[in-house]
Amino acid sequence: MAIQAHPLTRHIGARMTGIDARRPLTPDENAAIDAAMDRHAVLVLPGQDITDGQQLAFTRNFGELEEGANSTVRNSELRLAPAFADVSNLDKDGSKLARDHKRRMSSLANRLWHSDASFRAVPAQYSILSGRIVPEAGPNTEFADMRAAYDALDARTKLEIEDLVCEHSLIYSRGQLGFEEYRPEELARMKPVRHRLVRTHPVTGRKSLFLAAHIGAIVGWPRPEAVAFIRDLMEHATQPEFVYSHQWTQHDLVMWDNRTTMHRVRRYDDLNAVRDLRRTTTKSDGPTAEQEAA
Ligand SMILES: [Fe+2]
Repeated sequence: MAIQAHPLTRHIGARMTGIDARRPLTPDENAAIDAAMDRHAVLVLPGQDITDGQQLAFTRNFGELEEGANSTVRNSELRLAPAFADVSNLDKDGSKLARDHKRRMSSLANRLWHSDASFRAVPAQYSILSGRIVPEAGPNTEFADMRAAYDALDARTKLEIEDLVCEHSLIYSRGQLGFEEYRPEELARMKPVRHRLVRTHPVTGRKSLFLAAHIGAIVGWPRPEAVAFIRDLMEHATQPEFVYSHQWTQHDLVMWDNRTTMHRVRRYDDLNAVRDLRRTTTKSDGPTAEQEAA
């Protein structure tokens, strides 16, 4: 079957057919996906009814797995293998999470625009999300193109931000929602990490904004000024013209490049509808900035 990628919007996203993610990829297929990711930043592969093992094998084609995405959940409470981010509203027994469940509280932060694992010194490259159980009424997942957003900035702003370094932490994103309950060992793992605000794609050479709700400071700036500026940039970067909104069909496999996009999930009736999506993630090549000395 011929591999095809049909663009979904002017800037971001393509629907890719001709790939069977259940089987080992040929070098040509692997290269076609990489090239399409470099171009479109988000790929939708419909009709991929895969198992957890097949999803892990597919993910390994694109780099080293990022494990431990459920950093605030004890291992004994995990529903899925630790290599998966559990993007569901289910506990380990398959029951819907109660309204005040701690995991539900932290997953509410997925409604804020973010880039996966930007709170780690080596952030995520590709995220691969499999729609196992998808409520008919939604929610959509939205993706914003940080390359197009960068391109649309005026020259003065581009110059001003070129070498800025931001601090990212789960404390900042969850703090925006008033979520502040952490065990001491969790707090120790949430020490802010530093990332460049402007990243350059290693293959295409295109610049993009590395934004996320996880940002809470800019190195060398007064904090309120930094927070206000990041808000302005977020507002600019998530205008409708830069956004693809994905309406899920069961067995969609959606992959995106966290280096060049942000995403968020919209609100849904998670106390009643069951939603089971499973995410695997690859690491990017290395840190984007020097970390603060310990
Ligand atoms: Fe995410």
